[in-house]
Amino acid sequence: MNTVTFNQNVLRDGHQSLAATRMPTSAMLPVCGELDACGFNALETWGGATIDACVRYLAEDPFDRLGKLTAAAPKTPHMMLLRGQNIVQYTAFPDDVVQAFVACTAARGMTIFRIFDALNDLKNTEVAVKAVLKAGKHPQGAISYTISPVHTVELFVANAREFHRQGCQSICIKDMAGLLAPGMARELVTKIKAAVPLPLVLHSHNTACLAVPSYLAAIDAGVDIVDVSIAPFANGTGQPDQALMQALLEGNPRKPAYDLAAYYRLREHFTKVYADLSAFTSPANERTDLDILRFQVPGGMLSNFRNQLKEQNMADRMPEVLDEIPRVREALGWIPLVTPTSQIVGTQAMLNVRFGRWKNLSQQAAEVALGKYGQTPGTVDPEVKALAISKFGPPVEGRAADQLKPRMESLKAELKAKGLRADDEAAVLYAMFPSQTEAILRGTAQPEKPPAKPAAAPVAAVASAAAKPKPSGERTFDFTVDGVRHQAVVAEVG
Ligand code: CO
Repeated sequence: MNTVTFNQNVLRDGHQSLAATRMPTSAMLPVCGELDACGFNALETWGGATIDACVRYLAEDPFDRLGKLTAAAPKTPHMMLLRGQNIVQYTAFPDDVVQAFVACTAARGMTIFRIFDALNDLKNTEVAVKAVLKAGKHPQGAISYTISPVHTVELFVANAREFHRQGCQSICIKDMAGLLAPGMARELVTKIKAAVPLPLVLHSHNTACLAVPSYLAAIDAGVDIVDVSIAPFANGTGQPDQALMQALLEGNPRKPAYDLAAYYRLREHFTKVYADLSAFTSPANERTDLDILRFQVPGGMLSNFRNQLKEQNMADRMPEVLDEIPRVREALGWIPLVTPTSQIVGTQAMLNVRFGRWKNLSQQAAEVALGKYGQTPGTVDPEVKALAISKFGPPVEGRAADQLKPRMESLKAELKAKGLRADDEAAVLYAMFPSQTEAILRGTAQPEKPPAKPAAAPVAAVASAAAKPKPSGERTFDFTVDGVRHQAVVAEVG
């Protein structure tokens, strides 16, 4: 069998998983040449939450970052993570915005577009796949891996076949929560390889220490590529470390020969960067966390959840809420827990515990039940569906994006009316992150001041509590943390 190759994920998932996506471009550029010389299958450098973090926290133009990175590492294909019709946001965008986003990204030097849908409803990936092919680039279909009574090996193999039919040039098993065990890794790789004649990638997170043995099992079963990172932006909630994987493959005929001296030089650089980002790193992300196996909930979701329950004075009800999560998931058709469905299921579980089961149905949970996020893998509980219809109207037939009108022209007109740059890059960013993009385009965006560590940042002042009322009963509040102004929209429960 051929040598297994590595994708190097340190510049995207590495810092997204271990440092809240806060690595600035200035910390990446000095090592792009070294990374480029290693000969990785691909460098994952963009997409996922990095675009949001650029405009929201780092005051960077994400397309400018992409142009600089592809120029600084021109030999290795660059790879990005694309949430299908949601692009890099949480809800569906019109087809013309998805197509323009892909074209702009390809023009800045992106090669491999890893495309997924949170529900594995592949109607939501087809427009993006076609746009990537039209740009002459490489679409990769990523299957969101999860565990539930309806998620069989046959279902995942059918997903791989559908991606192949759409025109994808490789397939990825995307284990975003680190739930994939070695036996299942072996079976999935064997069956997908037998069904689809495309290169196969395994992407996992070492949160519960399963990714490393699962990579080994997958390599034995013939997986072509695995995703790795560089410590300290590796292991824990991140990808397995590159040097660790090379050591484990010692004596294996499929072992790749990446230069370890280069790895150690890179690790030295990233150790300094990790220290610089200490306000955003946490020991909880670095250690093995078996709770994700117990509750089948991604690690990031658990830590957010503990904070949310504390704020609601419900910390003592955490066990009840965790027990409620699988019930909510089942009622909503066994959806995988990945952005944004993890947040939706978690919030509904909390509401069920607090007010009684389904006494208080959140709008987003209702929208899942109504098919707005796509077709659910299992059947939605009929009572929950009826409740959703009674409160929020009829279910969505087909793709949510079919109900959306083209927007590129109106986005550009809006930018022009504001006296701002109105090209395709500006318009697609403005569609997803309007206020932040406006600040970037005006040149008034400021990088956030990192919170103090280890204590949580004190809320220095809460201002304008009597903020303008919105029609939906929402109110907007301004607040200041360590001198940085933030805005939050608060709605009454229900
Ligand atoms: Co990931």
